[in-house]
Amino acid sequence: MKPAYKNITGTFDILPEASGNENGLVTSTAGWRHVETTIREVMVQFNAREIRTPIIEPTELIARGVGMLTDIVSKEMFAFERGKTHYVLRPEVTAPVMRAYLQHRLDQRGGVQKLYYVGPCFRAERPQRGRYRQFHQFGVEVIGASDAQADAEVIAMMMAVYRAFGLNETSLRINSLGDEKSRPRYKEALRTYLVAFKSDLSDTSLERLSANPLRILDTKDEKERRLLEDAPRLIDFIDDESRAHYNELKTLLDDIGIAYQEDPFLVRGLDYYTRTAFELENTNLGAQSILAGGGRYDLLARELGSKTAVPAVGFAAGFERLFLALAAAEIGLPDDPAPDVFIAALGDEAHRWSFGHSQRLRSAGLSVAFDLKGRSMKAQMREANRQRARYTVIVGKDELDGGVVQVKNMGSGEQCTVGVDDLTAYFYKCIRS
Ligand code: HAM
Repeated sequence: MKPAYKNITGTFDILPEASGNENGLVTSTAGWRHVETTIREVMVQFNAREIRTPIIEPTELIARGVGMLTDIVSKEMFAFERGKTHYVLRPEVTAPVMRAYLQHRLDQRGGVQKLYYVGPCFRAERPQRGRYRQFHQFGVEVIGASDAQADAEVIAMMMAVYRAFGLNETSLRINSLGDEKSRPRYKEALRTYLVAFKSDLSDTSLERLSANPLRILDTKDEKERRLLEDAPRLIDFIDDESRAHYNELKTLLDDIGIAYQEDPFLVRGLDYYTRTAFELENTNLGAQSILAGGGRYDLLARELGSKTAVPAVGFAAGFERLFLALAAAEIGLPDDPAPDVFIAALGDEAHRWSFGHSQRLRSAGLSVAFDLKGRSMKAQMREANRQRARYTVIVGKDELDGGVVQVKNMGSGEQCTVGVDDLTAYFYKCIRS
C-alpha cells in the first residue's frame, strides 16, 4: 500500500532498527543513544556542562550572528513569521548559545563557560548523502577565554569524541583568519588577484567576487582551485598578535600529540570567525566529508549587542556524518537490549495469566515481553527468538492447572519446570546473579 504521507525530503525517521533511504543509512535509536551517551561522557571528562536552547530563534539573531552574506542565511534558512515576529529554525547553535550567555549574564557565574549541546538544526540545502535539511549537531562553546589554550582544548575535545569511537582515519586542517583589521586588507588583495581571471570564474564565484571573495576559497571547481594556488594567502596578511596566537596553538597541539595540516585556504562558511579556524575531515565519506568544524569568534558577542567583547571558541559536528564514518570504518553500534524473558502462552486463561505475571516480573526488575496478538505457540516461539529473549516461559492450561510453567533457556536450549510462585525468585537467581 502506498502511504498517503511521507516525511519531508532531507529529513528522516529514526527507527528502533537501522534503516536506509536514498541519502544514506539511518542509525537505529539504540545506536543513536549509544553515540549520544559516549559524546556526553567525553564532554564530562573535559568538564563541559550541557546547555539546551530553543529550536526556534529570532531571525535577526541568526542573520546578524552567522552573517547576511553566508549561504546559510541568504539561501538556506527555514524562516517564517507569526504576527510581527520573525522566526527561524536554528541552522546552527553557536549564535543561540552566545545569545543565551549574554541574556543570562553567564559571565557573572565566574570563570570560563564551557557549554556543550546536542540537538537538531535545519538548513534548506539540496539533500544528498551526508547532507540533510534536518540534521543533528553536537558541539562545544568555550566562552570567556582568549588564550590559545582554549582553542587547543576545543580541538582536543573534538578529537577525543572521534577517538572514543575508534575512528582514527580523520585529518585535521587548521588556519588563522587574523583579526577584523587584517581581513579587509586580505579581501582586497584576493579580489585584485581574481579580477584578472574573471573569465575563468564560475557564475557563483563571480557573484562572490564583489560581495565576499573569501567564499571563493571554498570552491570545489578544479580550475578555480588551480587558480587559487598562486593567490595571496591570508596567513601573510594577519596581524602579529594573531600570528603569535596561531603559533601558540600549533605548539599546544604538538605538545598533546594532535596531528594537523595547515590549510591557508580554510575560511569556513560562517562569518563570525576571527583567528583560529579548523575542520576535521574523513576521506572515506565522498562529497560531504567534513565531520566537524569550528573556530574562534571573538566578535560575535558585540555583533549581538554586547558592549564588551567576549572571547569565545568552539566546534560543532554532525551526527549523521559521524554515523556514515562509523559505517565506512565498519565500527558497529549496539542494539536495544533483548528482553530477559518472553512469555509464550496458549489459550485465553494462559494469556490472561501472562499479562498479569509479566507485570510482577517487571516489578522485580526484569524486562519482559509477551505476545499481544494471541498467535500460535510456534509463532510466539519464533517471536521470542527474533527478539533474542534470554528465557522463554511456556504456559498453557495444563501447566496452570498444575501450578507450574516450562522455562526454556534460549541460549543453551535447556528446559525445566518451575513452580508458578517460584518464577520471580528463579529468574532473579538466573539473571540478576
Ligand atoms: P558548520 O561547519 O556549518 O559549523 O557545521 C558543523 C557540522 O555540522 C558540519 O561539519 C557537518 O558535520 C554538520 N552539518 C552542517 N550542515 C549539515 C547538513 N546540511 N547535513 C548534515 N550535516 C551538516 C557550525 O555550525 C558552527 N556553529 C561550528 C562552530 C561552533 N563554530 C564555533 N563553534
